[in-house]
Amino acid sequence: MQAFGIDIGGTGIKAAPVDIAAGTLLAERKKIATPRPATPDAVAEVVRELTRAFGWTGITGATFPGVVTNGTVRTAANVDKAWIGTDAAALFGKVTGSDVSVLNDADAAGVAEMTFGAGKGERGTVLMLTFGTGVGSALFSGGSLVPNTELGHVEIRGKDAESRASERGKQEHGWGWKDWAQRVGEYMQQIEALLSPDLIIVGGGISKEADKWLPLLTGIRARIVPAALQNDAGIVGAAMAATAMAETGITTPGVVAAAGPTTSWTTTHQAAGN
Ligand code: BGC
Repeated sequence: MQAFGIDIGGTGIKAAPVDIAAGTLLAERKKIATPRPATPDAVAEVVRELTRAFGWTGITGATFPGVVTNGTVRTAANVDKAWIGTDAAALFGKVTGSDVSVLNDADAAGVAEMTFGAGKGERGTVLMLTFGTGVGSALFSGGSLVPNTELGHVEIRGKDAESRASERGKQEHGWGWKDWAQRVGEYMQQIEALLSPDLIIVGGGISKEADKWLPLLTGIRARIVPAALQNDAGIVGAAMAATAMAETGITTPGVVAAAGPTTSWTTTHQAAGN
């Protein structure tokens, strides 16, 4: 089974066809910088361009860096505010000519990691945190996703956690690994106090350099591991969710994840012995 995944971030938009059973890309991914301003029409144009570049006409899924319920965007922290209230699924469907399912970017990355990556076989409380332009979160219990958790926006020292713990925050303030890891550690301690996860998976571009900062985190009980799929997790998760949503007709990813063996992603998951 193949599907097309598009990962829309605050900085770049990446896409590739995905082998859903293996969780791997079937071709080298293409990346286009996120337009500025990142308005719905400008982003939709990039979605059209990437879909055309692969000549794709089949099942398509996209991520979005904000809350998405039933295909409609509800928040837009790092893209143009005109997105709020936009039916992204309908907009992308119009420009690509196919049905497109849309889910939060961290949720998509989490779904891919839980099936093929660092969370494979984990049944306890698993939290994926992505550190990039913003801080994204995906929460799982018993392998099921609780969608749209938005834990990057808890308040720490009177500020949005995202502004202190994102990769962008590190770059903008010129913080070294030690200073930044101290902020990330404080953030994770706060999240741990609220949720007590068994495992925290760290993703986003900066997870490639996990050896530079994971050892600096202190005072956290949960196991902390870097994402295995790294930058491909969003693309793979978008394609997986699209396949499951196409089969069930359900447009809420958490419900799809919990829907059981009727979805190919759950069946594949079980067939793979996870
Ligand atoms: C958004 C989240 C998103 C994260 C990573 C945050 O600012 O609110 O929805 O998952 O950035 O892109």
